Amino acid sequence: MWFYPKIIAHRGGGTLAPENTLAALRCGMSHGFHAVEFDVMLSADDVPVLMHDPHFGRTVRGEGQVAQTSAADLIRLDAGSWFDAGFGGEPVPTYEQAVYFCRSNGIWMNVEIKPAPGNEAKTGWIVGEITRRLFASEIAAAAQGGTPRHAAGLPLFSSFSLEALAEAARAAPEIPRGLLLDSLNAVAPGWHEQAKALEAVAIHTNHRKLSRGQAAAVKQAGYGLFCYTVNDPARARELLGWGVDAFCTDRIDLIGPDFAA
Ligand code: G3P
Ligand code: MG
Repeated sequence: MWFYPKIIAHRGGGTLAPENTLAALRCGMSHGFHAVEFDVMLSADDVPVLMHDPHFGRTVRGEGQVAQTSAADLIRLDAGSWFDAGFGGEPVPTYEQAVYFCRSNGIWMNVEIKPAPGNEAKTGWIVGEITRRLFASEIAAAAQGGTPRHAAGLPLFSSFSLEALAEAARAAPEIPRGLLLDSLNAVAPGWHEQAKALEAVAIHTNHRKLSRGQAAAVKQAGYGLFCYTVNDPARARELLGWGVDAFCTDRIDLIGPDFAA
């Protein structure tokens, strides 16, 4: 089952804004999106920030490692001008800033936990703890039975790191999880066993490696099915026709929030 939005802006604003920034979130919103995916990584002093690559060079200039740089230094970096001079000076947001922005604007979040190599367990644990604190009121509302958990406005965690996801589950069992796999064939002992072990609610996977039969099997097993990153409207329609519940897109200009098969 999938209780979340169907079309999700990848990395905040897809290819229309510098990824994983507040400017990207604003851009997604300006295109009508109230659902985003973004990537979260730890700084050297264990502060989660929005970042995809573990090293500098692509979205922030220079040389360096995110995991060896303090949050105070990371948030001073320019994460915008690589994309366009008009975004020059756009900072690296902390995870807490992004959550604050999204909650203030009614934006649902797929939080992809993206540990730097070696930081898998720690990243999952810390992101879990912080999220549990930030969403304490929603968690309490869901626990009291007034609001079903899926309707409580909680984010959905996902991660390619099973270790990170397991630690996030330990730190914040109330926050739902999606098992993120490049291919459903590429996990031992199998996606279904891993999803059960993690008590995942959904499978997130690369649409290029998904077969129609696999999509049917995931749905048959009762999981939500989310694909990344779908940028072609015809392919998007095909996937929805296979029973795919949701996908993220970089082309928020071509595939809007109300896109339907
Ligand atoms: O969470 C879906 C997608 O973002 C996974 O790949 O590399 O874009 O983070 P990546
Ligand atoms: Mg991602």
